[in-house]
Amino acid sequence: MNDYVSPIRPPAARPAPAMRPRAGEPFTTRDGRDALIRPIDPSDVDALRRAFARLTPDQVHQRVFHAMNELPERVARWMCNVDPDQTYAIVATDPDGAEIRGEARIHCDYAAAAAEFAIAIDPAWTSVGLGQALMTRLIDEARRRGMAEIWGDVLADNGAMIDLVTRLGFQRQRRADDATVVRAWRALE
Ligand SMILES: CC(C)(COP(=O)(O)OP(=O)(O)OC[C@H]1O[C@@H](n2cnc3c(N)ncnc32)[C@H](O)[C@@H]1OP(=O)(O)O)[C@@H](O)C(=O)NCCC(=O)NCCS
Repeated sequence: MNDYVSPIRPPAARPAPAMRPRAGEPFTTRDGRDALIRPIDPSDVDALRRAFARLTPDQVHQRVFHAMNELPERVARWMCNVDPDQTYAIVATDPDGAEIRGEARIHCDYAAAAAEFAIAIDPAWTSVGLGQALMTRLIDEARRRGMAEIWGDVLADNGAMIDLVTRLGFQRQRRADDATVVRAWRALE
């Protein structure tokens, strides 16, 4: 009866599983920190919630366009259990896989042949090339899937993201219906 779980008493806390080295593509930041880049997976829920908790309030606003104190578990689950046909989502982690330092995704609309991107980088890991590395992989994957375009909405005062997409060859235009938002897009040859 070791596996019996009481419906009324919370299960006893289990020791944290030993950290296993995770597979992934090695990446070194401009300031020499090592990371691994790999697809997100269902076991990332807790780490994704911790990563979200480390974002600054400004970064949260820039990522989800509103204030949010924490990433609810059901949202984190949804973000980590992607439909691989529609969504490509990647994370950059510490070499031991313990913490997520960046998360980025595209959602593919096959009817429109257009992929929408979203990205967030741990505030202690910004300005060292991680955002560019993840965005480049999103662009490559969108192209591989036959998308004609990759696009995303960026707050007009989000200078870091506007610089990043401009460097990556995106065009941009203020949205006619909302002057606080810039639509950034890039055709995929
Ligand atoms: C916007 C965001 C994704 C940028 O990520 P990042 O990892 O800091 O981006 P990068 O490091 O790749 O590029 C930015 C910096 O690298 C510099 N850089 C990039 N390539 C370079 C190169 N080849 N040589 C020298 N510098 C370079 C840029 O000038 C910039 O420097 P700065 O931050 O000092 O101005 C990150 O700030 C973030 O998570 N913001 C909150 C969420 C968000 O805005 N999401 C976008 C909407 S979905």
